[in-house]
Amino acid sequence: MNKDRNAPSRKAFDPAKLQALLEHLGRLLPDEKQRQAFYSCSQTQPPASLRLNPLQAQSQTLEPLLRQLGEPVPWCEDAFGMPESEKGLGQMLEHAMGALYVQAKAPMLAVEVLAPRPGERVLDLCAAPGGKSIQIAARMQNSGLLLLNEMRSKRMPSLVGNLERCGVANFVVSQAPGAMLARYFHNFFDRILVDAPCSGDGIVRKDKNMLNYWSSENAGHFGQQQIGLLRAAFHMLKPGGSLVYSTCSLSLEENEEVLLGLIRRYEANVEIRAIDNYENQPLPAEIAAQYPADFSRGVRVWPHHHNTEGAFVAHLCKREPTISSHRDADAASWLPQTRCDAAADEARRAIESRWQCDLPRPPGQVYTLSSRLLTLQPALGPAIQQHLPHFVRSGMRVARHHKGYSFISQQTVALCGHLMQGPSIELNFSQLQSIFQGQLAQLDRATDLKGEVLCRFGPWTACRAIVQEGGLLLDGMLPRNFFRNNLRTLV
Ligand SMILES: C[S@@+](CC[C@H](N)C(=O)[O-])C[C@H]1O[C@@H](n2cnc3c(N)ncnc32)[C@H](O)[C@@H]1O
Repeated sequence: MNKDRNAPSRKAFDPAKLQALLEHLGRLLPDEKQRQAFYSCSQTQPPASLRLNPLQAQSQTLEPLLRQLGEPVPWCEDAFGMPESEKGLGQMLEHAMGALYVQAKAPMLAVEVLAPRPGERVLDLCAAPGGKSIQIAARMQNSGLLLLNEMRSKRMPSLVGNLERCGVANFVVSQAPGAMLARYFHNFFDRILVDAPCSGDGIVRKDKNMLNYWSSENAGHFGQQQIGLLRAAFHMLKPGGSLVYSTCSLSLEENEEVLLGLIRRYEANVEIRAIDNYENQPLPAEIAAQYPADFSRGVRVWPHHHNTEGAFVAHLCKREPTISSHRDADAASWLPQTRCDAAADEARRAIESRWQCDLPRPPGQVYTLSSRLLTLQPALGPAIQQHLPHFVRSGMRVARHHKGYSFISQQTVALCGHLMQGPSIELNFSQLQSIFQGQLAQLDRATDLKGEVLCRFGPWTACRAIVQEGGLLLDGMLPRNFFRNNLRTLV
């Protein structure tokens, strides 16, 4: 979880600017009663919410508790609105184990509308920090190909850190301005999410800092950039495929005007589909009349309707293939790796024998061994690495291979620990806290175990550690942000 991003804004803001923004957006509501409800809701902080991560098998043990503590999110079956503030959630063991992702309710709708399925090719064009990417990977059951693109290098650590923590394996990460990818991928993806960079006027409840940058003119500049991204994404979509355009903006400039920009280029090739998992509030008739009738199928999530932040989601479909004048290469000719490398297979089998388990082998994924890393990745990952200059990395690091031995990674422990029958120790909570602070955990009784063990706490396999004189010491490939100074548990 990115601490700065989630911290409530404490900076003073100009109330006149807030009023100007709210009035600019409020004219899109049908009557004064709704406008007043929107204005007063916008003065308050939105409640925290989280989504369980089905890629982490133990996450289901939390569901009964979350049903008691929180409120289900109507459009996302594994998400809950929470009474507690977000800040505490990042210190939870369940968070460290990747069982949950702290995510606002409104943005979850985009992935539910996208409805990715196992085995598909999916592109998330503007991916960091990765909340929706993880939601997509879960719907794909870690199979197929999930290409995650992010333009900004400083946003990469949060993206990769979240993917690692949540056990995503079916991904390739690229770093490029999104429109550049259209030189390589032609009519290629089954589904594409364009969660576009935007002014953030929909998240003003949480982040008043955006007021310092917001103006209607600036929203128009974002609109131009969004049109470029959406057109490129449309070209990369397979005929018959689904494209979801989403923003955390409620404005016309960043939504309907952007759809117009797409229609101007691709005309009748664009179909706008109805969204049936959210009850939409239509625009006032005189504003709606400025746009084609099927634009009413785009959904505006108003903060005062479900006590959320604001968002916009449109579901688009492509009828015919498109042609591009910029063709650097054609990903359709890149060959997937059909089987695991022999060395990778041997390393995988050695792990399975050491820890007495079967490691997952999702369809369309391969184990590779390169630079001493045993990686589970999409079959197309090695070819993308070879041909796409914007490639950053692919797949889940399963183990580090050194002098003939494979040291399993923290992701493997957190994701597959419950399948492993190898040596393990049950910890108490204070030992667990020591481990998460990077300290030696004193053992309260003697053990015959030596060397590496798995540390368990309730349903969780928390980490791998080394039994030493005096206790257990954390060891292995640790992901970013593993440590917790103030570890707590939800249960
Ligand atoms: C709204 S955020 C995406 C949030 C993300 N989908 C999630 O759910 O966590 C938009 C992202 O697009 C990135 N971005 C900005 N311009 C871009 C471009 N031209 N191409 C690709 N990504 C871009 C930003 O750095 C930012 O991380």
